Amino acid sequence: TTRWKIQDSERIDGQAIEEAAAVLKRGGTVAFPTETVYGLGADATNEEAVSGIFQAKGRPQDNPLIAHIADREQLYELVERPFPYVDMLLDAFTPGPLTFVLPSNGTCAANVTAGLPTLGVRIPDHPVAQQLLRACRLPIAAPSANLSGKPSPTTADHVWADLHGRISGLVDGGATGVGLESTVLDCTQEIPIILRPGGITREQLESVIGNVMVDPALAGKDDRPKAPGMKYRHYSPEVPLWLVEGNVQALQDLIDQEKQKGQRIGLLAGTRTAKQLEADAKIELGGDIAEIAANLYDGLRTFKEGDIDLIICEAFAQEGLGQAVMNRLKKAASDYLQLG
Ligand code: TXA
Ligand code: MG
Repeated sequence: TTRWKIQDSERIDGQAIEEAAAVLKRGGTVAFPTETVYGLGADATNEEAVSGIFQAKGRPQDNPLIAHIADREQLYELVERPFPYVDMLLDAFTPGPLTFVLPSNGTCAANVTAGLPTLGVRIPDHPVAQQLLRACRLPIAAPSANLSGKPSPTTADHVWADLHGRISGLVDGGATGVGLESTVLDCTQEIPIILRPGGITREQLESVIGNVMVDPALAGKDDRPKAPGMKYRHYSPEVPLWLVEGNVQALQDLIDQEKQKGQRIGLLAGTRTAKQLEADAKIELGGDIAEIAANLYDGLRTFKEGDIDLIICEAFAQEGLGQAVMNRLKKAASDYLQLG
């Protein structure tokens, strides 16, 4: 695995980008930063290249990939002409953490869409991703650059830990910004449906186009989610994680009770809550939900088997970006406790 280090995102080393683009054009797999998480890219029009992604990640074959493009013109080369509200969303939120699911015109390889008639497409808002996409002039299929099941990578070191030796290259552009994946929006109906909550909130979408629906499978566990990837357990830390709703005293009582059983407890919480609690190890995720989102995956990866037996994580309000944070935490959790 070749590792290119981008020292300064404002003045990107053109040669590193050219080399990485050449690897992609030859059918290799290259991880790169986006504003959400690192992606593992391959030429979306090359079926063999795309199958390299599935192999490297150990990803189930029925889970489609998002095609990344540099600009809007490229979008119309990949999909059928969309509903007018898609243009309004493109104006408002792209480049940015919003993925549009649209009827595919068949330009991307069949394994990108896992055989579905629709294609997920997004225009990432990161200077390294943008330059790489422009340099190779291809749609780049890219899932998050982690081993399947693990938390998504928000630093190049996370990618290296999971995939080094399994991929052709890694463009190291430092830590990502949002820290959670893009919102996946099904735009094949008159009213769009959120299939995965993410960096653009439902409230933001509704402020531009009015009513937006949410896949009912996100609220319950029984329905089959419309985004194939949402049915899998995900984001798993090395040790069990309990997601806990309750006041500070209830959280401390729970920690003390588990410590008495001999468990070493790692606490994951917002800064204010964390400062008021005692545990064997603590990670303060931040003072507001945007900071908490940005630090979440690194927090999940920091607690190691051997140091900690159980992670106790504070539950957050499910509004705005809190929707996406709680969606990921529920998947990472082995238990969800609601204390009085
Ligand atoms: O922020 C992101 O979206 C990151 C960065 C790298 O761009 N990518 C990412 O990709 O999170 P991935 O593969 O980890 O998640 C893609 C999600 C999966 O849940 C997948 O099932 C869903 O999007 N998806 C992709 N194409 C779809 C389609 N045609 N229909 C329904 N769901 C789709
Ligand atoms: Mg992923």
